[in-house]
Amino acid sequence: MKLLHIDSSILGDGSASRELTREIVARWTAAHPETEVTYLDLAAEALPHLSQKSLSPSDEFEAARNAAALEQFLAADAIVIGAPVYNFTIPTQLKAWIDRITVAGKTFRYTANGPEGLAGNKEVIVAVARGGVRAADASGEFGEPYLKFLFDFLGIDNLTFVRAEGLAISPEHREASLRAARAAIAAYAVPEALAA
Ligand SMILES: Cc1cc2nc3c(=O)[nH]c(=O)nc-3n(C[C@H](O)[C@H](O)[C@H](O)COP(=O)(O)O)c2cc1C
Repeated sequence: MKLLHIDSSILGDGSASRELTREIVARWTAAHPETEVTYLDLAAEALPHLSQKSLSPSDEFEAARNAAALEQFLAADAIVIGAPVYNFTIPTQLKAWIDRITVAGKTFRYTANGPEGLAGNKEVIVAVARGGVRAADASGEFGEPYLKFLFDFLGIDNLTFVRAEGLAISPEHREASLRAARAAIAAYAVPEALAA
C-alpha cells in the first residue's frame, strides 16, 4: 500500500498541521506496517505557479516534473494532506500541487452528462489548521470547501477532515484544539484494505 504524505505549512516546527499529519501517518503505518510512505514538503520544495511555460510539453524539465507529481498522486492508495488556512484559503504551495494533479483525461474528464472523476479508490485525509473558527455558514474560509469540491470532482469519496481551529485565540485554546484534533485522529478508523 502506498501513502503520500504532504505538508504545505510555511511555519516549520511551529506548524499545527504538520504535527497532525505526522500523527495521522504514524497511526496509518501502525495499522499497516507494510505501507510505503512518500513525503512531499511543498514549503521546502515548492512547485512553481502554473504558467504557460509549465504547461508547455516542449519544456522537458517542467513536463517531467508535472508527470512525476501526477504519477505520485495516481499511485497513492492514501493521501494525508496538511492544509493550513492562510488568508481564507489553502497555501499557494498546495494550490500549485493541485494544479499538477488536476489533469483532464487523467484525473477527470468532461462528458455530456457532466464532469467525471477518474481518481477514485483513494483515501484522502486532510488536516486543517486555522487561527480562527470557521463560521457555521462557512463564510470567511474557502480552503476546506474548495478541497471538498476538488476531491469530489476527482472522484474521491473517501475524504476525511481533521480540524484544529481557533489556534490563534489563546495558548489555552490552541492546546485544547490540538488535543481535540489528536483525539479525532485516535478515533479515526484506518481502513482495513483499499481496493487496488
Ligand atoms: C499568513 C497567514 C495568514 C493567515 N490567515 C488566516 C485566515 O485567513 N484565517 C484563519 O482562521 N487563520 C489564519 N491564519 C492562522 C493560521 O491558520 C494558523 O496559524 C494555523 O496554525 C496555520 O497552520 P500551520 O500552523 O500548520 O501553518 C493565518 C496565518 C498566517 C501565517
